[in-house]
Amino acid sequence: MSKKALSEAFYKALTRIRPRYPTNQAALLPALHLAQKENGWISDEIMDEVAAAIDIPPPVVREVVTFYTMYNLKPVGKYHLQVCTNISCALMGAEELLEHCEKKLGICAGETTRDNRYTITEMECLGACGTAPVVQINDDYHENLNNERLDGVLAELP
Ligand code: FES
Repeated sequence: MSKKALSEAFYKALTRIRPRYPTNQAALLPALHLAQKENGWISDEIMDEVAAAIDIPPPVVREVVTFYTMYNLKPVGKYHLQVCTNISCALMGAEELLEHCEKKLGICAGETTRDNRYTITEMECLGACGTAPVVQINDDYHENLNNERLDGVLAELP
């Protein structure tokens, strides 16, 4: 039997949360969230494993993973900077903020630093338009940013 990509801890967590959802389909997003938390991104192998774990056809899992931008389809750095450049953020300076990020970290959007510390991804609306511009770093939102504030946030990262 082939070795599983996901750990015992993933399966335990899944068993714990599964009863909260009425159907297998409803449990798919949280199952993928758990898988990404563990692995950092969702590979083809992990899609298949999640499909088997909650008894959903693999193509359905693939459709969901590729639809939602919150799932990473390739490895990301320790800190994943998701910079929203949609309309509200753009009006509040997101393009300049993205440029600043790229210059500061020495990579373009879509890339990861050589030391695997940072990945920058340009995003569509993150749903926090009222506090634009917004950058999501891993699970945290940083709002009302400008270059200096973003520098402060990056300096605080362990
Ligand atoms: S446009 Fe950036 S959060 Fe909505």
